[in-house]
Amino acid sequence: MPDRAAVGELAAGVIADLVTRKPDALVGVATGSSPLPVYAALAQRVRDGVTDVGRMRVCQLDEYVGLPPEHPQTYRAVIEEEVLRPLGLSAESFLGPDGTADDLPRACADYELALRDAGGVDLQLLGIGSDGHIGFNEPCSSFGSRTRVKTLTQQTRVDNARFFDSLDEVPWHVVTQGIATISEARHLVLVAAGESKAEAIALAVEGPLAAIVPASALQLHPHATVIVDEAAASHL
Ligand code: GLP
Repeated sequence: MPDRAAVGELAAGVIADLVTRKPDALVGVATGSSPLPVYAALAQRVRDGVTDVGRMRVCQLDEYVGLPPEHPQTYRAVIEEEVLRPLGLSAESFLGPDGTADDLPRACADYELALRDAGGVDLQLLGIGSDGHIGFNEPCSSFGSRTRVKTLTQQTRVDNARFFDSLDEVPWHVVTQGIATISEARHLVLVAAGESKAEAIALAVEGPLAAIVPASALQLHPHATVIVDEAAASHL
């Protein structure tokens, strides 16, 4: 695609097609800057009256641990702001893990059950980290991993520091759907734009299957779509 706006339009169209076929589809959303044009394009479709997302359900990919619930950078708050509000969806349409729980392993297991009870994820939207991570599955995460607590690499903390006042504020720990959890979604749609993602995209799409590149697990998925702009495609 020529640019990130076009990536957003195309991915929003894929979600729109899904909810036209299945109005109560469960759509997994990702945070970070890459999916923002997708949400903007989907919201535009809703405002234009071409897509009805009124019954769509939304679930969360990952969450920081240790941020107070009222912090604006909890991924729950970001999804509220960037997805639920613009699409006119209520908190009842939303499923997410509890990153503030005292018993985090229990909260992770509960989230796995909640996703299953909800009928499974119909489409999972993904971004990609510059090191090839998906969700917060950092390099060397097992392809068999389930929702669990992870420690961030320093590179990911530095990459995400732009959303915080300082690097010190970026949590070290997160809960994230595992690679096996993500792979249970019926359709995976990964979006990326910009030169900084070119190497990760090339390794994920054309490199060997390797835990060091978590996104290479998409090669095993029967229905995975990768939508990139020209800069992110430049190493393919
Ligand atoms: C975070 C999120 C990922 C996201 C990545 C890339 O680490 N947990 O889901 O894909 O950031 O973010 P960006 O799109 O801003 O480069």
